[in-house]
Amino acid sequence: MSKRREDRRDARGLLCLLVELLPPKGGKGRLIVAIDGPAGSGKSTVARGLADRLGFRYLDTGAMYRALTWLALEEDVGLDDGAALGALAAAHPVVFEGDRVWIHGDDVTEAIRGTSIDRVVSTVARHPEVRAIMRDRQRELAEGDDAVIEGRDIGTVVCPHAEVKVYLVADPVERARRRQAEHPEIGAEALATDLRLRDERDAAQMQPAPDAEKIDTTRLEIDEVLDRIERLVESRARA
Ligand code: DC
Repeated sequence: MSKRREDRRDARGLLCLLVELLPPKGGKGRLIVAIDGPAGSGKSTVARGLADRLGFRYLDTGAMYRALTWLALEEDVGLDDGAALGALAAAHPVVFEGDRVWIHGDDVTEAIRGTSIDRVVSTVARHPEVRAIMRDRQRELAEGDDAVIEGRDIGTVVCPHAEVKVYLVADPVERARRRQAEHPEIGAEALATDLRLRDERDAAQMQPAPDAEKIDTTRLEIDEVLDRIERLVESRARA
């Protein structure tokens, strides 16, 4: 990365920190909840549910990598060409409209959930050129409001100063079972293999922040997970 780009990135990181330290508006401070963890750990259900409960903005960063992957396939951009993918991401920022996900003027909300995207999205997401653009866009989208942000590197890279950081895990059998419930048309063995391959490819981005609260969701009901995180949020809001 060039020195200028690095300086710009540092400046944005500093901005993220400053925004979080700004005096509370309307008596309520801005609060970021980072929810990281592997596929099938319960991230999406938990992050959406928490944003609903708290009335916070919800940002699904995985959907952004998925949308870019969809566009790369449409435009025939090589999935190993980091520079071209980075340029594509910069030229076509992902837009959220309520629950809908848009890129390049297309509503891709359903298309990005298909297994054809599942299988290659981590190849797109591993390029540093792509990650740099996504990180800046994610910070931009999270600016200003209380937010629950879901991903892999939110607590470590995108918002390392998030007030609450949670890292969800679940045992592989349970994660595969959850994926199976989402994709009943696919064989259990194929799903387990996909999950394992995706974990291997996502590993570089999947380190929990040292100050993240690790929660194993294998045997927990969604409400139990939400209660735990809500307590963390309350204690942070009071601090
Ligand atoms: O959470 P998900 O399955 O929708 O994420 C899709 C892919 O995007 C996943 O393979 C990892 C990648 N990803 C990432 O590298 N960093 C993020 N912050 C979010 C997702």
